[in-house]
Amino acid sequence: MQRVPEPELMDEEDQAKAYAEADFSEPHDHFVSLFQAAFPDSLTGTVLDLGCGSADVTIRFARAFPNCRIDGVDGAEAMLGFGRKALRSAGLEHRIRLIRGYLPDASLPLRSYDAVISNSLLHHLADPMVLWTSVQRFGKLGAPVFIMDLLRPQSEDQLNGLVRHYAADAPEVLKRDFSASLRAAYRPDEIRAQLDNAGLTDFTVEIVSDRHLVVSGRLPFPNV
Ligand SMILES: C[S@@+](CC[C@H](N)C(=O)[O-])C[C@H]1O[C@@H](n2cnc3c(N)ncnc32)[C@H](O)[C@@H]1O
Repeated sequence: MQRVPEPELMDEEDQAKAYAEADFSEPHDHFVSLFQAAFPDSLTGTVLDLGCGSADVTIRFARAFPNCRIDGVDGAEAMLGFGRKALRSAGLEHRIRLIRGYLPDASLPLRSYDAVISNSLLHHLADPMVLWTSVQRFGKLGAPVFIMDLLRPQSEDQLNGLVRHYAADAPEVLKRDFSASLRAAYRPDEIRAQLDNAGLTDFTVEIVSDRHLVVSGRLPFPNV
């Protein structure tokens, strides 16, 4: 199936509300457990969540790694507004900061981070290389990088089946976005080419469910 890009920022109020109110516990808990499996050493220090949206992954990650502080960045104020409410309810405002910033130009409170994570940002970006340059710009040398995103289905039938299965009872706006996101997502070979282009040749790309893939690795030290 041919890729069809979707808009970058999720800044429509009804779109952000539907996303923030949806139950993503299964894929987002999966995100955290796959990170733990990929990087079993205990994680401390600072974490950057690129395209954090309404901060559901950010909050689950903070609960799983109590010795971390997390900065989440997103370009859409509508999504960040729901994220700030969620932070208050979770009582995690002392460990998570949400920053409005548009990648690749965002300016962040720290120059570099001990780990970089991102969920479902890659397929939104007009230029996918923005993600790979951002992880290298903001991650420390040797830092774990863990990116989860949707996997573009191989056919219209498969796409419609996923939307029916996972979004049957969802509001129309969420169904529309899920379908558009699946269409905008990449295939593993396309991501492999992006990574090789960015010099992230040791990063792995793995399909982890019927609709998700994970890219992970540690930021390389320069050759001397
Ligand atoms: C599908 S949402 C994922 C949100 C969150 N990571 C999650 O998993 O719940 C993608 C987010 O990326 C943000 N985004 C897209 N392009 C961006 C860019 N160039 N700079 C900053 N944020 C961006 C959107 O505004 C949106 O909130």
